[in-house]
Amino acid sequence: MSILYTNRLILRPFKETDANAMYKNWTFDSRVAKYCRWHPHSIIEMTQQILNRYLDEAKNGFNYRWAITLRGTDEPIGAIDVVELSKDNKSATIGYALSYNYWNQGFTTEALKAVIKHLFDNGFCVVKAEHHIDNTASGRVMEKCGMKYTGDSTAQRKFGSDEYCIVKQYQIENNRDSDI
Ligand SMILES: CC(C)(COP(=O)(O)OP(=O)(O)OC[C@H]1O[C@@H](n2cnc3c(N)ncnc32)[C@H](O)[C@@H]1OP(=O)(O)O)[C@@H](O)C(=O)NCCC(=O)NCCS
Repeated sequence: MSILYTNRLILRPFKETDANAMYKNWTFDSRVAKYCRWHPHSIIEMTQQILNRYLDEAKNGFNYRWAITLRGTDEPIGAIDVVELSKDNKSATIGYALSYNYWNQGFTTEALKAVIKHLFDNGFCVVKAEHHIDNTASGRVMEKCGMKYTGDSTAQRKFGSDEYCIVKQYQIENNRDSDI
């Protein structure tokens, strides 16, 4: 599993001891969950369950999920991962979430750039992402990473819900034009 380094961040695999930090930093938070498909966690056991799944998937060889930590702390303040992988490992869709306390300081942009570069370095041709139509900040992150808007689609609003919403789709291709 690769650890990715940026100016201010270290993106590392999740560890068994991360549940407390995940819960207190973002999984409890309805502001963070607002445009995501997951519901905010009302108890830490919900976070522990997700973390257990992350650890199982990593054990089974899934290498595309990172805890976002500030250099020098090792405490997860967010997560970034591949949420959909094409069968040939050429195309990946990314998702991310960051603790509300750290919004608007460029951290997710820094993390997403590092993940795009890592995927391109590892043979991926296309990296995609999408956001709820009202989640303008997330679209801005995609744009700042050189991703281009490709159109709208519909997606399930929340896990377990019949409600659908419009999502804006972005992608970046691994060619000389991408300045990652
Ligand atoms: C979306 C999210 C990941 C952004 O992370 P971040 O670290 O704050 O992002 P950055 O600081 O790198 O960039 C945010 C950009 O959005 C802009 N922005 C913030 N709020 C905005 C708003 N309401 N409308 C328009 N732009 C906005 C910021 O000004 C900044 O752009 P700039 O650098 O041009 O000024 C973070 O808000 C988050 O975790 N949200 C909840 C989870 C989520 O929505 N995940 C994405 C699901 S698609």
